[in-house]
Amino acid sequence: MANLLSNLFKKSRGPLFVNLQPSGERFSVQPKDTLLQAALSAGVPFPHDCRVGTCATCKCLLVEGKVKAIMDFSYTLSREEMEQGYILACQAMVKSDLTVALDRPLEGPQHTVKSICGVIRKSEQLTHDILKITIELDESIIYEAGQYADLSVPSLSEPRSYSFADAPNEQGQTTISFFIRHVVNGEMTGWLHAADRTGVKVSITGPYGSFYLRPSDQSIVCIAGGSGLAPLKAILEKIFKMGGNIPVLFLFGARTQRDLYCLEVIDEFSSSWNAPFHFVPVLSEEPADSDWSGARGLVTEHIKDLPEIRVANSKAYLCGPPGMIDAAISKLNECGVTGEHIFFDKFLDRYHVEKKMHHSD
Ligand code: FES
Repeated sequence: MANLLSNLFKKSRGPLFVNLQPSGERFSVQPKDTLLQAALSAGVPFPHDCRVGTCATCKCLLVEGKVKAIMDFSYTLSREEMEQGYILACQAMVKSDLTVALDRPLEGPQHTVKSICGVIRKSEQLTHDILKITIELDESIIYEAGQYADLSVPSLSEPRSYSFADAPNEQGQTTISFFIRHVVNGEMTGWLHAADRTGVKVSITGPYGSFYLRPSDQSIVCIAGGSGLAPLKAILEKIFKMGGNIPVLFLFGARTQRDLYCLEVIDEFSSSWNAPFHFVPVLSEEPADSDWSGARGLVTEHIKDLPEIRVANSKAYLCGPPGMIDAAISKLNECGVTGEHIFFDKFLDRYHVEKKMHHSD
């Protein structure tokens, strides 16, 4: 009887609520939502990036209440942080009303995360292993250039995350596109690359991520590796639409000539930009005897001052695999760019995260 009453009591409880300090925001939590998901669904710009417990961007202090960790916080947080009561919002299931505190201000895009159904309208091969898919959504989505969404296909087990490849319309849009690289043994990418999926119903959930263009007149250094081009293309397209008045050094690292793509779009930026625009494709595995006369080696070796662009006075936007991002950050630091001027989207694969994955299968 006691159990029955306790169950009845539990079932009749209303939603749980979270109070956020110091901003004073208050939002409700749907059953099965993480703390982060609840905040984003309420349109609260809670800091986050990976959503899989690795980047610590969503770290916050649990002041009061109870959460259950999906993934052990100790993989990412130090013992001291855990003893002080820090948790990862993306890995915390809310078990009671909560009060949590953030060390950093709420800033960034305030676009409410939502799930929207759609249909794949177009599938284009950009390179031998990168596909561009265009999706028409049933309702419009608002996002920032640089952000990403989860793509779900009913017949596949898990969603996968991809960056929006186009600059957004401020009022929202119903057509979006992603660049999707084929990953060996990747369920989603294998399925997408195996046949033309035009006409297939899908759904997306987003927008996510803290990678977006910060308002500034400073020159920018963009560094993309492989399929990391999508969010940087979206960011550059956004600047282009705003007049293209910011000097840009854009380094694009690929293996060989056949891995380069979107060159016409970049060429269009370059020829119509209203400030210096330097595009440097860098090939790391191009055969020595090929006809390639451009830059070779690691993309990060080509970060250097140009007559019109001082790297030290620039903001840097990076997107690519973890090794490239880490190398770029140390090179930028050496050049005098400090952490608060470096923004990155580090994509992860199954070797880095075992559960859900970002930008990969
Ligand atoms: S650890 Fe939570 S968003 Fe990265």
